[in-house]
Amino acid sequence: MDRNFALEFVRVSEAAALAASRYMGRGDENAADHAAVEAMRRAFDSIHFAGTVKIGEGERDEAPMLYIGERVGSRKEGAPLLDLAVDPLEGTTITAKGGANALSVIAIAEEGKFLHAPDTYMNKIAVGPDARDAIALEASPTENLRNIARAKKCEVSDLTVVVMDRPRHEELIREIRLAGARIWMISDGDVQAALATAMPGTGVDVLMGIGGAPEGVIAAAALRCIGGNFQGQLCFRNENEKVRARDMGIRDFNRIYKIDELAAGHVMFCATGVTDGSMLRGVKYFGGGARTHSLVMRSETGTVRFIEAHHDLRRKPIQ
Ligand code: FBP
Repeated sequence: MDRNFALEFVRVSEAAALAASRYMGRGDENAADHAAVEAMRRAFDSIHFAGTVKIGEGERDEAPMLYIGERVGSRKEGAPLLDLAVDPLEGTTITAKGGANALSVIAIAEEGKFLHAPDTYMNKIAVGPDARDAIALEASPTENLRNIARAKKCEVSDLTVVVMDRPRHEELIREIRLAGARIWMISDGDVQAALATAMPGTGVDVLMGIGGAPEGVIAAAALRCIGGNFQGQLCFRNENEKVRARDMGIRDFNRIYKIDELAAGHVMFCATGVTDGSMLRGVKYFGGGARTHSLVMRSETGTVRFIEAHHDLRRKPIQ
């Protein structure tokens, strides 16, 4: 994959973040999400590639834009074929409330390399490079924490585990507390939490628990770039979700997916902060312009590039 794509695609996550950030704290989740989706959709078409959305806003009948299977990009002759896993606004509620860590994210892979994940839940475990060989979703949380602590040459009590603050995690939280680790409960945004496990200075060691399956594929792509590790197992809420999964080619409903079964081959990842967070700053406005803060990475090299962009909105308004 041409490395210059990474810098092309960051413009797309910037466009989505700029559009969504206008709705920060305004209490309107749908408007924030819609603005991000529209801006991302439009920005893709300015890039010379033939893209297919593999992870997006949902099935074609429920999402007008960036639906699974939608074709985007200039699609001119000779344009490279790429697959996309997108979340134009990861953290719609966070944005509507003006909270921390909302992002706009895009993962890019060669054709056929993302798991075709149904819109269901996924049990996840994610760690950074220093504990990449220490996780196994089939093991208990306690065993994982002990192995992670050993790999990081620290005590379990030194570890910080991110868990989504949901009733479904009552048992998990109880076990983590018994094991002695610290917990950071988040209201939303487990892509950023997974990524934070691999970013120095965030203080996050591991993500555990159940979140969205599409977000799991995106997080796996991000961690592939940076040498972390991720495992996921689909969790279905009803029969209908199983039927959809079967239609998407999933046969073994209990399978534990390894990181490179979720996102294989060469992948790229771009994220732009919508609201301030532990890795990326949110969009800031000033007279006539705005500043964005983004992250771009490629699995081929592992280079992590932070990009601060100053946008002159008088010359290039947010559309
Ligand atoms: P969106 O903001 O993109 O809707 O998703 C936010 C999110 O918190 C994800 O980060 C997470 O994987 C998922 O929702 C969890 O779903 P639920 O809110 O149903 O527990």
